Amino acid sequence: MGLSPRNTPRAPAYLLHCVIALATFSVTALLLYKVDDFASQTKTLAGHNLDPTPWHLFPPRSFGEQTHLKTYKIIHCSYLACHSATNPNTTPERHRFHPSQPSETCPDFFRWIHHDLEPWATTGISLTHMAEAQKFAALRVVIVAGKLYVDLLYACVQSRAMFTIWGLLQLLKRYPGMVPDVDLMFDCMDKPIVNRTEYSSMPLPLFRYCTTKDHYDIPFPDWSFWGWPETNVRPWDEEFRDIKRGSQSLSWSKKLPRAYWKGNPNVGSLVRTALVQCNHSRIWRAKIMRQDWEEEARIGYEQSKLSRQCDYRYKIYAEGYAWSVSLKYILSCGSLSLIISPQYEDFFSRGLIPKKNYWPVSPTNLCHSLKYAVDWGNEHPSEAKAIGKEGQTLMETLSMDRVYDYMFHLITEYSKLQNFKPVPPSSALEVCPKSLLCLADDKQRQFLEKSTAFPSEAPPCSLQSADSNLIKGLIQQKNKSIMDVEDMEKLKVQRRSH
Ligand SMILES: *[C@@H]1O[C@H](CO)[C@@H](O)[C@H](O)[C@H]1NC(C)=O
Ligand SMILES: *[C@@H]1O[C@H](CO)[C@@H](O)[C@H](O)[C@H]1NC(C)=O
Ligand SMILES: *[C@@H]1O[C@H](CO)[C@@H](O)[C@H](O)[C@H]1NC(C)=O
Repeated sequence: MGLSPRNTPRAPAYLLHCVIALATFSVTALLLYKVDDFASQTKTLAGHNLDPTPWHLFPPRSFGEQTHLKTYKIIHCSYLACHSATNPNTTPERHRFHPSQPSETCPDFFRWIHHDLEPWATTGISLTHMAEAQKFAALRVVIVAGKLYVDLLYACVQSRAMFTIWGLLQLLKRYPGMVPDVDLMFDCMDKPIVNRTEYSSMPLPLFRYCTTKDHYDIPFPDWSFWGWPETNVRPWDEEFRDIKRGSQSLSWSKKLPRAYWKGNPNVGSLVRTALVQCNHSRIWRAKIMRQDWEEEARIGYEQSKLSRQCDYRYKIYAEGYAWSVSLKYILSCGSLSLIISPQYEDFFSRGLIPKKNYWPVSPTNLCHSLKYAVDWGNEHPSEAKAIGKEGQTLMETLSMDRVYDYMFHLITEYSKLQNFKPVPPSSALEVCPKSLLCLADDKQRQFLEKSTAFPSEAPPCSLQSADSNLIKGLIQQKNKSIMDVEDMEKLKVQRRSH
């Protein structure tokens, strides 16, 4: 027996230390494991732990962070960032406006809010409607007492979810205490889903960035108004200012008398594929350029600066996979916008009136129609210039102030239709500007901070009352002007062939 009696008392102490150390280690490991596990189930607005929408698949985003940093960040941003002392648990007081600020009437296209919500005018919107709409939603947004809660259902492509929610948070900041309690289902992918024929017995209230005349989907301002970091497109007010300035660098007569388009033709859009065939400056009067985003990103977006694309008298708009955010930048140039008959509508494009603020181009016989439009414009320079200017004015009317007003009125009118009291579901998390910025990467944060809103001094513009005959009249008038242009084209073709 080699053990001396003197050594025996030391053995339990040593063992005890060991046991304590081991226990501490296990508890820590278990805790870390649990926290990691918890974080690995926490869904975020940046897209962590979310699957792409099954109705429109896209490759999942990869997050380059280290696991523990990621764990800490997810927990911190999601559960702690909104609960600091600066965020007292009270309803914001209703905003008081400066008494000398009377409210202006909203732009005409705001009338479409009534049209978009008309399907629920008699039935109202029930929790059954919400449950059905949720089947096509990527986000459920609940606003209660001025606080915003998001239930993340699926991932959105790129940073759409983050920028869309940011827009809503800025709305709350702009009109404190004025945004009503509301429960909204959002899909952030491109194509409308709620077909008016298929869902006629039960229209589903689903917000997205565009709609068509055959869908119930409710159009809402898209993320790019707050910025689109992936393509270096800055917040709307700033981008508009620069494009307008850029458009003034050449007078109308100095601008190239050709139609210009630059974009990605490979987005599964028939119109864009057809457009590439019209790429001939002399024969079709059109210059069609391919945008290579990877190359642009590499060289710092010098070639894609929107403010440098206003040197042509004519700018072509062609829809992509669905509507395209490029419409507002194209109209901003003040060139004559040649809009190839769009199928999709976003919230403001309903303000477009053919031959007043744009020139309609038929997708059948596309190249001929483009040539016809350019020749018409070159023969009628003052008219072409005036229509181009009207397009730019329409975009100037659409300042961020008006974008917030549109959101405000749409949400307010929608909330009046809800026949239940909105309550955030248990799976929803509160989102505040701090928690959202916490998840943003450097570039995203830079764009988000630039588009921060402040409490408005003026009340929202005043919304016109519903008038469905007026909308019908507008649609008919639009149809008529488009047919007029088509007739003019046909006439010219006939004259030439005689
Ligand atoms: C809507 O559904 C009907 C019936 O299924 C179909 O014929 C029509 O093409 C659909 N419309 C659109 C725009 O998808
Ligand atoms: C259109 O033509 C120009 C020059 O003629 C060319 O540089 C450009 O790449 C063409 N665009 C496409 C989409 O092929
Ligand atoms: C406008 O024209 C389209 C197609 O030409 C037609 O389907 C629609 O009913 C017309 N709308 C009105 C209001 O005249």
